[in-house]
Amino acid sequence: MNFHIMTLFPGMVEAVLSESIIGRAREAGFITVKEYDIRDHANNKHNKVDDTPYGGGMGMVMAAPPVCECHNAVLYGIPIGNSRRTVYVSPKGRILDHGTAVRLSRYDDLIILCGHYEGIDERAIEEVADEQISIGDYVLTGGELPACILVDCVSRLIPGVLPDPSCYEDESIASGLLEYPQYTRPYEYKGKKVPDVLLSGHHGNISKWRYERSLELTRELRPDLLKDADGEEKSGGKGKKRG
Ligand code: ADE
Repeated sequence: MNFHIMTLFPGMVEAVLSESIIGRAREAGFITVKEYDIRDHANNKHNKVDDTPYGGGMGMVMAAPPVCECHNAVLYGIPIGNSRRTVYVSPKGRILDHGTAVRLSRYDDLIILCGHYEGIDERAIEEVADEQISIGDYVLTGGELPACILVDCVSRLIPGVLPDPSCYEDESIASGLLEYPQYTRPYEYKGKKVPDVLLSGHHGNISKWRYERSLELTRELRPDLLKDADGEEKSGGKGKKRG
């Protein structure tokens, strides 16, 4: 899968997405990430991409022409026949969740537009964006961090990026429940021992214990995940019952 990020701060995005699992997935060729500097498409000698808002008000607005021209440059580099989607990351968008990440992971090319200042001229958004996505009900200074979050959570669904599909099928949220607690050595730490069942080698009992802890944790921390549309508790979450 190919990610194309349109931004005024390419270095900010590159710094995050060149490390760790995403950095390795890029090196191994499972995904590509390319940044496009919107400022390269400012058609004036000062490379100015923003202007004061019509109607007055605080702050500056990113102008439509450099955004649209940058988007054209991105499209130009995408092979004909590839499936693609352009997402504008914005606090006005639909809140990002696992289902959205799964849906977006099915495209060949995902173009992400990052805004800054007081936002982007509405005509550019209408022209280039297929949808708007927010990472939560709070406002950040720009779309670069949301773009990195989107690339991260979509990338880990791409085959090869994680070592084993069970890495993303079994964990919190994806299964409909929060993930069970995990333990590693030492066996005892600050007087607390690893639950005996995990040392038993009995896979059926371990699965049952993990499922029960998942359900318990979800009830305690995220009861909303267990509720259906009528507000009633579902029978054990969306995920497959284990054990
Ligand atoms: N840009 C600024 N705030 C944002 C948010 N919460 N989600 C996505 N993009 C944003």
